[in-house]
Amino acid sequence: MDFRELRKKYISFFESKGHKQIRAASLIPENDPTVLFTTAGMHPLVPYLTGQVHPEGKRLVDYQKCIRTGDIDDVGDSSHLTFFEMLGNWSLGDYFKKEAISWSFEFLTKELGFSVDQLHVTVFEGDENAERDDESAKIWESLGIKANHIHYKPKEDNWWGPAGNTGPCGPDTEMFIDTGKEACSDKCGPGCRCGKYIEIWNDVFMQFNKDENGKYATLSQKNVDTGMGIERTVAMMNGKKTVYETESFTPIIAKIEELSGKKYGESEEITKAIRVVADHIRTSTFIIGDEKGISPSNVGAGYVLRRLIRRAVRFGKTLGISNIFLSKVAAVVVDLMGEFYPELIENKQRIFDELEREETKFEATLQTGLSEFNKVAAKLAEHNQNSISGKTAFKLYDTYGFPLELTLELAKEKNMIVDTDGFAAQYEKHKEESRTAQKESFKGGLADHSEETTNLHTATHLLHAALRKVLGEHVQQKGSNITVERLRFDFSHPQKVTAEELKEVERLVNEQIQKDVPITMDIMALDDAKKQGALAFFTQKYEEKVKVYTMGDFSKEVCGGPHAEHTGALGKFVIKKEEASSAGVRRIKAVLVKE
Ligand code: ALA
Repeated sequence: MDFRELRKKYISFFESKGHKQIRAASLIPENDPTVLFTTAGMHPLVPYLTGQVHPEGKRLVDYQKCIRTGDIDDVGDSSHLTFFEMLGNWSLGDYFKKEAISWSFEFLTKELGFSVDQLHVTVFEGDENAERDDESAKIWESLGIKANHIHYKPKEDNWWGPAGNTGPCGPDTEMFIDTGKEACSDKCGPGCRCGKYIEIWNDVFMQFNKDENGKYATLSQKNVDTGMGIERTVAMMNGKKTVYETESFTPIIAKIEELSGKKYGESEEITKAIRVVADHIRTSTFIIGDEKGISPSNVGAGYVLRRLIRRAVRFGKTLGISNIFLSKVAAVVVDLMGEFYPELIENKQRIFDELEREETKFEATLQTGLSEFNKVAAKLAEHNQNSISGKTAFKLYDTYGFPLELTLELAKEKNMIVDTDGFAAQYEKHKEESRTAQKESFKGGLADHSEETTNLHTATHLLHAALRKVLGEHVQQKGSNITVERLRFDFSHPQKVTAEELKEVERLVNEQIQKDVPITMDIMALDDAKKQGALAFFTQKYEEKVKVYTMGDFSKEVCGGPHAEHTGALGKFVIKKEEASSAGVRRIKAVLVKE
């Protein structure tokens, strides 16, 4: 069974259990300043897990593109990926443990054909926040899982979420396949990293909300959030050792082999390099080709993209590829995945252009790095020294993209040595710092539906409508980011917005606030929403049901919410800044001032 069939089977299986398929969300979270990328299928569903009504009902199913970049430097081993696809089914305050576990079991054994003996499951062992999950264990046992295949685990293993610092979370039960490999020790079991047991699915019982103080409160509804990794499951079904041997990767790897003349499996080093190149180009293609695609930059998600591209180029070099090659591999990714993610086909040219531009730029940086290296070497020679410090080696790595191996090689040519321990120390320090920075960026929590952010979200709709009235109907939302302090809104417009235009936009928004119009929400088919003139730029399928928020006769927009109940709640709207965001896209930052 390949990834195409697995996807189809999963969706129709859960449709047969009363679930509605929803479309995959963008990789760039909307109105969520706390995360850089969508990391799980539940991300776009946070409002609904915490009580908002979902237009498609209480049972949902989808496949979702996900990015997790916590361990970029670990990619290249057999299991770490920066991009993966997640199948998921949800109960929003509807069914709970019994149905979720029974359906997981039925799907794994009947639809996918795994044997009961191959399956191991883990359940939560209990702590001060939630009781030991004997209920789940009993359900598994009643289905036929032997008691010695059910393992109780602590919070570090069997609790999922919140995705950021705060938000919905709960105990989970995870499903593993025993690959049949020999156990690495007496202690080997599900969760061991030796590769004997591979986790493929996770059922999370989301019944808690974690707040800023680390306290857990019971949610108003009991939810189920599940996630099955497509790549891993396909690997397990086909008896493959790693995800790289499945169809998600084989055509990409074949292209890299063709370009480099090297063979996957030829040596450990070559295999690793091919994996890095394949993974990173796949992820970069999805980031640039996203419906809210972004470009490489020095901040946030753009910086992650830049790192991925540079790392792909560097590893490409170790494979002996000397020409501009990223876009050639990206073309294979588009061909392979476009069927499931049509945005890749739509944005094909942008993907190729951005990759080529960044790759060319990086080549120049590498050249600069080379002359920097030569300068350092000359200076050391002047002082009769022959050791390149860890700090210098790290600077070459961090600023000029030199892998340590390259510095070592260049040093050797000049009869110099490199302080590799010093380099390792700098590297660890840097890793620690970026981890801290990443944690910081999670602060505020995913479930931030405070009055401030809700009002700013409503103001964004008014702003969108006002811009279209003042500048014209070509204005389309290109991105939105809201914190408790301000809104940031990106939209298409070919030139700078003049001071007069901005003033008029501001006036129109404030006029609507003063009128204090009620805000109403209706659920309808997307088709009908469009017929009624609702703005809907991030939606694709016509058959789906959507929520439409209406603000008087001024604004009508498809959106997940939440919103203020009436515009008068907003206070005074003030535009703080208007600037370029990227080619053809302008950015406005604005605040609401309480009067
Ligand atoms: N949200 C859960 C996960 O990512 C299902 O594992």
